[in-house]
Amino acid sequence: MEVLQRGRNARTGAKESQALLLLATRPGPRPAQVGSRAAAVDERKVQQAWQREMAKVALFPGRTHLLPMGPAHARALGYRQEELVGVPSAAVLLCAGMGHVVHAGALRPGERVVDVGSGGGLDALLAAKAVGESGRVLGVEMVEELLRKAQHVAGRLSQLKFLKGYAEQLPTEDGSADVVMANGVVNLCCVDKGRVLREMWRVLRKGGRLVIADAVTQVVKPWLVRSQPGLWITEQAGLLTADELRTLIVAAGFSNVQQATGQNLWSATRD
Ligand SMILES: C[S@@+](CC[C@H](N)C(=O)[O-])C[C@H]1O[C@@H](n2cnc3c(N)ncnc32)[C@H](O)[C@@H]1O
Repeated sequence: MEVLQRGRNARTGAKESQALLLLATRPGPRPAQVGSRAAAVDERKVQQAWQREMAKVALFPGRTHLLPMGPAHARALGYRQEELVGVPSAAVLLCAGMGHVVHAGALRPGERVVDVGSGGGLDALLAAKAVGESGRVLGVEMVEELLRKAQHVAGRLSQLKFLKGYAEQLPTEDGSADVVMANGVVNLCCVDKGRVLREMWRVLRKGGRLVIADAVTQVVKPWLVRSQPGLWITEQAGLLTADELRTLIVAAGFSNVQQATGQNLWSATRD
């Protein structure tokens, strides 16, 4: 901004001011601060790119997609055959997460759970079984085609509902959840990961738990790659490293941040 204002100074002359403007708008080196990386790409365009991709996934779940998914993927993540008994096959076909957040969350009967980016509804359904009729599970998802599938999966379970919404602005009140979980959403899909984590902190009650499974990268992609929404899908261009993700979880206000050994699973608490 400062550079733009100086560029408009009449005393510097037209050529100089154009050069200054170019410097201000041309993509430069990747910003050093984790939080400022959000500015490198248009959030709405990334969401739209994911919406297009996930709508295809919802409509043609049996086909090969960019994301690993389906029953074999679920087994590789640790979902056990016995817990999938009675689960509609549509939910398992759409399993596209990065870990077993329901298992990691150690859910108890009566707990209130929010599943952010609930996809085809598998985790929300398993969570609803774990918390029972005295509990409550809300799946939040931005892709209508997936929501329709998940609503079908939910069947008549009164403790389970799905709402259209965004991770950046969860459709639920402050302090209304005992557990917030997200499987393959925060690091893989979201542009402003810090904002999403703060939003998760907002909806958790004091003492509530956060459980996240996510992909991470060893080396963050160059800014020119990160700035192209389509590459967030094909190249997983939005990923941060495990250390950076942990830094953002702490910065959002969480305590007891732990990463399961050898897995892309984080847990934390809101004190
Ligand atoms: C990799 S898929 C995982 C789906 C599901 N959690 C699972 O484990 O199968 C990521 C999901 O997050 C959703 N998503 C991505 N960005 C989102 C956002 N900003 N707000 C809400 N949902 C989002 C996508 O539509 C997609 O359903």
